[in-house]
Amino acid sequence: MLEFEGRTAIVTGAGRGMGRTHALLLASRGARVVINDLGGAMDGTGADAGPAQAVVDEIRAAGGTAVADTSSVATTEGAEAIVATAVEAFGGVDIVINNAGILTPHTFPDTGAEDLDRNLSVHLGGSFNVTRAAWPHLVKSPAARVVLTTSCALFGSPFLVAYGAAKGGLIGLGRNLAGAGAEHGIKVNLIAPYAKTRMADPDIDVNEGARTEVVADEGPTVFDRLLPENISAVVAFLAHESCELTGEVLSCGGGRVARIFFAETQGYGKADVTPEDIAANIGQICDERDYYVPEDITVYTTFFMERVPEPASV
Ligand code: NAI
Repeated sequence: MLEFEGRTAIVTGAGRGMGRTHALLLASRGARVVINDLGGAMDGTGADAGPAQAVVDEIRAAGGTAVADTSSVATTEGAEAIVATAVEAFGGVDIVINNAGILTPHTFPDTGAEDLDRNLSVHLGGSFNVTRAAWPHLVKSPAARVVLTTSCALFGSPFLVAYGAAKGGLIGLGRNLAGAGAEHGIKVNLIAPYAKTRMADPDIDVNEGARTEVVADEGPTVFDRLLPENISAVVAFLAHESCELTGEVLSCGGGRVARIFFAETQGYGKADVTPEDIAANIGQICDERDYYVPEDITVYTTFFMERVPEPASV
């Protein structure tokens, strides 16, 4: 049984969807939880203190310990306020679950620069801001764990250019934070979830961002089995001090959990390579056989340097 007695967790975006179930699970296993949620619409506009407070009430009614915080993760001031809430209420921070997110689905180029700014500032900026504000406390914790929430949008979609850019950035953030946390025992991992929340509604109109009219109810689908609770089980595993994983991305949904990883092909090399050489060898360059999965940049650099082609002897 993975318990969180004596640990303080911040869960961002915990007023709804997956953040709510992450917070409920951690609290049910003894964590003191800061329920952060700005409470806005799915596209990030507006604010409402109701969702965060409702989850606090739910946790307290079940005998758990929680406080609400309605600051936005998208600003450094907001992030510092969230961490201050944790420190004032509970004396520190052991766990940060970066979950807050928005969705502004559009085709390209209807996606505007403003969409990109908004997605970057909530997803990437928010995770950076909150983790950075919490870092001095995480360094002091004997059980510091950070979880970031990326998305399978990183695999590519015509509708999620701004969202996917921000979610892709989170992979770089998470892997580099794992490097920064290594000397302090802080483990940092990512999830790429699928769950039935307002954000994953299959009937969302990509250009309106609103739900389209559902013409006929076709009965339960696989979508109905994608419970937010399934994702929270993965988050609780990654948030627990027994978890030794770091810098990894776990894909999860409906009870299935898998690892997403970054790999490099064996490639092709020639010191005086020409565009024609590349065209002639693109099959070998892309050949996935014997791919290599780098651990970090130090290990990768050794691998890379050993493969820099020697000039042809004269
Ligand atoms: P949701 O919309 O139900 O919950 C997101 C929560 O974040 C909302 O309550 C919202 O008020 C809050 N939030 C938004 N901006 C905020 C800000 N600036 N500061 C504080 N709180 C803010 O969505 P869901 O599905 O639970 O999403 C949770 C996370 O999972 C998001 O990061 C999302 O991008 C990600 N995700 C969701 C997928 C899904 O299948 N539902 C798929 C892949 C990723």
